[in-house]
Amino acid sequence: MSTPPSTPGYSPVDKVLNAAARQSETPDFAVVREALNRARRAPSVWNRQPWQWRYDGARLHLFADPERMSGVVDPDSRLLLVSCGTALHHGVIAMKGLGWESTVSRFPVPGNHLLVASIQLSRSVSGDGDELAMFLALDSRRTETRPLASLGPLSPVPRQLARFAEQRGVALTVLDDQGVDAIASAARLPTRSARLSNWGLEPDFADVCVLTTAEDTPESWLHAGEALSAVLLFATSMNVATCPVVDVEERAVISREAGRCGGRPHHQNRVASEPRYAQAVVRLGLRRFPVLRRSHRRNVRDVLQYR
Ligand SMILES: Cc1cc2nc3c(=O)[nH]c(=O)nc-3n(C[C@H](O)[C@H](O)[C@H](O)COP(=O)(O)O)c2cc1C
Repeated sequence: MSTPPSTPGYSPVDKVLNAAARQSETPDFAVVREALNRARRAPSVWNRQPWQWRYDGARLHLFADPERMSGVVDPDSRLLLVSCGTALHHGVIAMKGLGWESTVSRFPVPGNHLLVASIQLSRSVSGDGDELAMFLALDSRRTETRPLASLGPLSPVPRQLARFAEQRGVALTVLDDQGVDAIASAARLPTRSARLSNWGLEPDFADVCVLTTAEDTPESWLHAGEALSAVLLFATSMNVATCPVVDVEERAVISREAGRCGGRPHHQNRVASEPRYAQAVVRLGLRRFPVLRRSHRRNVRDVLQYR
């Protein structure tokens, strides 16, 4: 990773930050703080929340914070940037919910993967029902690790979720039973037979899907995180429980199974037919237990700086 966010002087990062000050109509800091207060519910690997926001009065900037990943095995910073992707998408959705449209520049300083995104905010002129649904789901989404009931083969939900992923060049593929068994050890999931018998006190009928990208670059990891966020939030809005599993070993096995299952009806699209890199596994299903309590998050004043 290159230049840290605090580099003094008129660096390329400063140029991006300062260029924004000329915008005329921008949200008050209180609006941004309220949005990020909601967006801080973004999920992250091991709940590390490895990001920092800065609002300069005109643009909102998202920085990766690798120090918060200490102890996590993440040699190429993939998990760091997938997590930042969920934060970015949560931030955009929260701003939209409060009436502000985001124009996002990802990695605006070439070669610097610590400045993840700079967001130009403008007044929102139109509503979007899907984004509103995601906004309303920000607070209620949880990672559900307990056994789930199946959505059933006729459920339209996977197809709808795939649509949100594809908007970011990310394919969502639902695995068949053979695929679930093949990735079980790589994704640290129980096999189909174990899921139906002795995993916990209840059998598990969760559907398992894989998010894949065409490349394996910092840009695709960020997109994968954004897509993951959209999938989790929209599923929540449909009353579907989710559990992301991103800290996966043996990604080649998962990529292969996603490729093999990619021809199923609701994945007949251009992006799904190309060679893919697995970025995340998500368990999906109907909740069978009372909703979990909210997990801990940092206070908004600790994740957002002004100027
Ligand atoms: C990039 C990423 C990786 C994750 N990996 C796992 C995982 O391997 N296993 C798991 O149980 N949860 C995983 N999670 C879920 C997080 O542990 C969870 O989001 C976090 O603890 C906060 O809880 P919440 O999602 O209920 O708010 C992951 C989430 C993200 C976004």
